[in-house]
Amino acid sequence: MRQNGLPLQDTSAGFYRRQARRYAEVAHEYRQSVYVGSSVPSLTDDLVLLHRAMMLAPGSRSLDAGCGAGARDVYTLWREGWDAYGVDAVAESIQVARELHPEIADRVNVADLREPLPFEDGSFDLVLCNAVLQHIPRHEVFSVTLPELVRVLRSSGILQLMFKHGRGVLTLYDCDYGEDRSFLLYDEREVLAFLSRRGMTLIMPDHSSGLGGFMYFTDPKSAGHCVFHLRKLA
Ligand SMILES: C[S@@+](CC[C@H](N)C(=O)[O-])C[C@H]1O[C@@H](n2cnc3c(N)ncnc32)[C@H](O)[C@@H]1O
Repeated sequence: MRQNGLPLQDTSAGFYRRQARRYAEVAHEYRQSVYVGSSVPSLTDDLVLLHRAMMLAPGSRSLDAGCGAGARDVYTLWREGWDAYGVDAVAESIQVARELHPEIADRVNVADLREPLPFEDGSFDLVLCNAVLQHIPRHEVFSVTLPELVRVLRSSGILQLMFKHGRGVLTLYDCDYGEDRSFLLYDEREVLAFLSRRGMTLIMPDHSSGLGGFMYFTDPKSAGHCVFHLRKLA
């Protein structure tokens, strides 16, 4: 995938390197984390999803795969008493997280989801992977990233996957950063079918909250996302 003559993954890494401090600010203010439209009325923002994932997980050891500059959700989980870890491919993202939250400095590290993760099999009760697949080319997503997310989950563990859905590439102007950004889109049915063959099962909607199954929302920059929770079968 090429854009402006550069591989797409390189352009997004450049964006996150340049914008690490700004990204942490936008994330910690939850500026792009409140949903404009949602397929489930109770699905209003990132925190609803995080609490849902925490409730579903069988224990309290978590990994945020592609935690972002500032590692907001790693810090939130850690404050809630979780044994929380995060990785991100961009060194600046991790550096900003360590500066903002020195308490979790040794829990956040640089790792690239296009390569095997530096964790043992079955290490985590909960793995979050939010808005990261959009930066990883298709071949690596299916050959490395998704299999690795499953491998590091313990049996009965929960995977929360959120990604911009559709086909092809979405390019839009992001006014919080004053630049155009491009994202790879993924088909939720294809992702689910792939994960089902690897022993993951979709968590179906819950009667009281309505949360479950494929959930859809639009973020403040009008990008459509799909999110779902899967459990690793014993
Ligand atoms: C849109 S941000 C999402 C951050 C965080 N998950 C959140 O929900 O706020 C995407 C993050 O994915 C990271 N990323 C992109 N490609 C990656 C890769 N191959 N491995 C690990 N992290 C990656 C970027 O550095 C960036 O921090």
